[in-house]
Amino acid sequence: LERLDVSLGERSYPIVIGNGILDEIGDACRSRHLGGHAAVVTNSTVGPLYLERVLTSLSAAGFSVHPVEIQDGEEYKTLATLEGIYGELIRARLDRNSFVVALGGGVVGDVAGFAAATYLRGIPVVQVPTTLLSQVDSSVGGKTGVNHSLGKNLIGAFHQPSLVLIDVATLETLSERDFRSGLAEVVKYGAVLDASFFNFLEDSSKAILRRDAEVLTRVVKISCEAKASVVEKDETEGGIRAVLNYGHTLGHAAETLTGYREMTHGEAVAAGMAEAARISERNGFSSAADTARIVRLLQSLGLPSRLPHFSAGEYAEALLRDKKMRDGGLKFVCNRGIGAFEFLAVPDVCSLVSDLTTGD
Ligand SMILES: NC(=O)c1ccc[n+]([C@@H]2O[C@H](COP(=O)([O-])OP(=O)(O)OC[C@H]3O[C@@H](n4cnc5c(N)ncnc54)[C@H](O)[C@@H]3O)[C@@H](O)[C@H]2O)c1
Ligand SMILES: [Zn+2]
Repeated sequence: LERLDVSLGERSYPIVIGNGILDEIGDACRSRHLGGHAAVVTNSTVGPLYLERVLTSLSAAGFSVHPVEIQDGEEYKTLATLEGIYGELIRARLDRNSFVVALGGGVVGDVAGFAAATYLRGIPVVQVPTTLLSQVDSSVGGKTGVNHSLGKNLIGAFHQPSLVLIDVATLETLSERDFRSGLAEVVKYGAVLDASFFNFLEDSSKAILRRDAEVLTRVVKISCEAKASVVEKDETEGGIRAVLNYGHTLGHAAETLTGYREMTHGEAVAAGMAEAARISERNGFSSAADTARIVRLLQSLGLPSRLPHFSAGEYAEALLRDKKMRDGGLKFVCNRGIGAFEFLAVPDVCSLVSDLTTGD
């Protein structure tokens, strides 16, 4: 069992990571002094796989449990789904001493986290992430929310969890594509924050793809440490937390241009990172050898290393729609060598897209 602590003063919380530890959720919630009623929010895919064990463990630890199932899919990350969850919480008479458990991937975590952030002006949430992306990224850091028909993640709140419990054994049932997509965020931490982790990923790519539990525990732990260290320095994304956008500026543009259908988020981020590596090299922050290592690692993990083929003008237009754009310019995240970063001020997106390598 691995444990690390996210230090955010009064909002500090532990992340517990292990193989087959789902049944310890009840005791873990007890040791966090959580209250009597627990609403366990999950979806129609994860529920049949893992809900029973979570409910049994919570009941055995003395909590009264209320399962809430939402439909599976990003298209259900909406205010309408939230409305349904609030109804369930009210009918179950959850009071201010109650808490929400989010059991599922990033969608469940974001929706259930936002429900907890806003129900009765905020009750605790426990994150039990079951996708690689949610284990290494979305469950840590406190961002919660839903989409609006006019844009993704536009409605939300910062609400730090009281506990994150990560059972890497749940990854065994994850689809190959979702698993590989989560690896993009893992590569991100190595590429801009931790050179020795990057080396480890290069050496372990086969074991990772085999989903070796010991290797995955280490991958998840170091990724959570990396994310936690950034969040601790910048809880609400005023400054350095922007480093986590490595690969995401162009990745989001690729997602926009492909209409969020052809590519998963992780695939788009992987392609965006490969391109960010080339841009870093052109700006003198890194060498051709560094770029080659980043591209090679992505490829060995079955991830794309080229952006989808669209014109420079189309990329420029997509970038201008990004909510992180300020006055037509942006702060582009580069890798400095491997394991460190550099912010590149881009006053005009046209200069960024003029030399893109596209084609996958
Ligand atoms: N809050 C944050 O900081 C943050 C960060 C990154 C991404 N996100 C959000 O996360 C979401 C994406 O998360 P995701 O990639 O986990 O997608 P997801 O939640 O849609 O999960 C992907 C698929 O895997 C299924 N699944 C989940 N766990 C499983 C398991 N153990 N076995 C089998 N199937 C399983 C899900 O039902 C779903 O069909 C997006 O909405 C994104 O905006 C949030
Ligand atoms: Zn991401």
